[in-house]
Amino acid sequence: MVILGAGPAGLLLGNLLHRNGVDCVVLERADRTRVETRARAGFLAANTVRILDRHGLAGGLHRHGRPHGVCEFRTAGGRFRLDYGSLGRGERHTVYPQQDLVTDLLTHYLGAGGRIGFETEALAVHDAGTTRPSVAVREADGRPGEWRARYVAGCDGRHGAARRSLPRGAVRHHRDHGVSWLGLLAEAPPSLDAVGYAVHERGFAGHMARTPEVTRYYLECERGTAAGARSDEQIWDELETRLYAAEYGALTRGRILHRGVVDFESDVIEPLRHGSLLLAGDAASLISPAAAKGANLAVLEAELLAQALTADLVHGDPGALERYSERALAHIRRAQRFSHWMIRLLHRTAAPGGESFFHEFLRYPLDESAADEALEALRTSRTRQDWFATYYVGV
Ligand code: APR
Repeated sequence: MVILGAGPAGLLLGNLLHRNGVDCVVLERADRTRVETRARAGFLAANTVRILDRHGLAGGLHRHGRPHGVCEFRTAGGRFRLDYGSLGRGERHTVYPQQDLVTDLLTHYLGAGGRIGFETEALAVHDAGTTRPSVAVREADGRPGEWRARYVAGCDGRHGAARRSLPRGAVRHHRDHGVSWLGLLAEAPPSLDAVGYAVHERGFAGHMARTPEVTRYYLECERGTAAGARSDEQIWDELETRLYAAEYGALTRGRILHRGVVDFESDVIEPLRHGSLLLAGDAASLISPAAAKGANLAVLEAELLAQALTADLVHGDPGALERYSERALAHIRRAQRFSHWMIRLLHRTAAPGGESFFHEFLRYPLDESAADEALEALRTSRTRQDWFATYYVGV
């Protein structure tokens, strides 16, 4: 079994397969330091915590993670808070930086004798239609190499080798939301005791705690904006304007440690199995950060895939991998639709509509004019608040 990528999906999958007696190796193009320090997501859903608990992999997040259950929406008409942790199913997020989770998963995997090849870049997956697929790699010393296995799990993200090696039959549902965010990591304690979503005539701004010393901010920006286009000072001023600091209090400023522009695109590969090649995490489906679901989907899919591969390889159940694709796609559809609803709730520039796969089955479909009404309904209607809380934390 070859697993491509040492992110949340690849490392959880490696832990579970190794524990189930499946011989596997993780191939990761980055070095160990990069893998353990790369700041990505940090909002773990209750179901993600349950999955990690189930497999004894949640020690770090229980020691250092912090429960989080409040959103604050700010608009020109005022602000309101949603204690989503006491709404819907009463579930909260756990704030725990992804690099810490990845480090925990890597430590467990190596501690149990798991094999990983760092600085080993997968170039392509060949013969996925056979029972002996091969992975062409560039080894750490730059030499070409090849790995053969019964199955290859593509957990190497949206731009990885697994996606590049999909056969023609693969369908990619894609949607460009026409929105971009400048993501910022600030060396500053959180300025709100909530996830902050601000809808302003100048554009969206977001606030998400990461640790007591570091806070994630987002600024909606024009497509094609350069991450370094504005000075730190200008960014803080813009954040304060859009987060209505004049009415609700100044932000706690600090050095901006990292910047990056993310264009909001969503996509899903269907199906998630192509012969001996299986997809999980961002390799399976790219989701926008609007509802903090990417890492949570990656963990969910890794557990489902581990169950299916174990059923196939250890218990001789050949139908398990087909069921994996159907089960994972059901969760991806739900997460994608809620994420799209959030994008249209918070941005006045978001592209409307979209092809059938992403059709808003949600009870409160949004068109541009309804976005303000939807925000008002979130403020006043318990029914909509319960619905929001259920989907916001659920995966
Ligand atoms: N060969 C080997 N490794 C690769 C290759 C390649 N060709 N391409 C990418 N990788 C590695 C990356 O270096 C990274 O460590 O695959 C890993 C993919 O990790 P993630 O991008 O974190 O993907 P995944 O595990 O699917 O988690 C996805 O977590 O990062 C958050 O919210 C984010 O939605 C995202 C979710």
